[in-house]
Amino acid sequence: MEVVVCKTKEEASAIAAAMITAAVKKNPKLVLGLATGSTPVLMYAEMAKAVKAKKVSYKHVKSWNLDEYVGLAGTHDQSYRYFMNKNLFEKIDIQIKNTHVLNGLAKDPEKECAAYETQIRRAGGIDIQVLGIGSDGHIAFNEPGTSLNSRTSVVYLTPSTIKDNARLFFKGKEDEVPTRALSMGVGTICEARKCILLAFGKGKAEAVKGCVEGPVSQFCTASALQMHNDAWIFCDEAAASKLKLRKYYAWRSATKLGI
Ligand code: GLP
Repeated sequence: MEVVVCKTKEEASAIAAAMITAAVKKNPKLVLGLATGSTPVLMYAEMAKAVKAKKVSYKHVKSWNLDEYVGLAGTHDQSYRYFMNKNLFEKIDIQIKNTHVLNGLAKDPEKECAAYETQIRRAGGIDIQVLGIGSDGHIAFNEPGTSLNSRTSVVYLTPSTIKDNARLFFKGKEDEVPTRALSMGVGTICEARKCILLAFGKGKAEAVKGCVEGPVSQFCTASALQMHNDAWIFCDEAAASKLKLRKYYAWRSATKLGI
């Protein structure tokens, strides 16, 4: 696991975006796993800048998103499909038919999840998976107590996640946040060839500590990334503040990246 500690989230987002841009340049048919939440927004803006500057094209890139709320249509302004369209897909030249987000209105959610896994497999698997982290250490919507081998399925949100997501989105209205979601599993995520997790702000410091230095445990599902051999954690100083070896990680990753 490489932990990149940057002074600001702007700096971390630019470096992570450059990593993705370089990968797409190398393989124009890259398969991306994408994440929602406030954290990747700056990185998505940097990716869009590179497209605008004609440094890279997403024309042949395919994407699969991590999760979606049960009960929200893709046209709902709090759905993750809507978020992705606004924050990334409309700003790059990806073909919308090549973008995939789980259908929160699926009549048979379990069938929807199984089909999603099949689609990813048929595409040859995910090359780079982008991740955020919940303040309770979740990745996608894999809450504490989820098997680290889990596959894409219907999941149940914790009260703390509902609170976090109401504060950031849903105008603070907790009762409007769906209590269930469809989410890629931890096992599904860990099959990606590379994982890039972004974490910013002191509210994520405890979760980052659990992810990087805690035991591998279903209590902090992000800790499963310790078993992945190409996982990159991009933090600002506040999110890295509880890491015992933060100076060492910062030096090692900066040396490897040549930054
Ligand atoms: C939600 C998403 C996660 C995301 C998390 C953190 O729970 N399902 O994928 O990482 O929110 O969101 P934020 O980046 O807004 O803190």
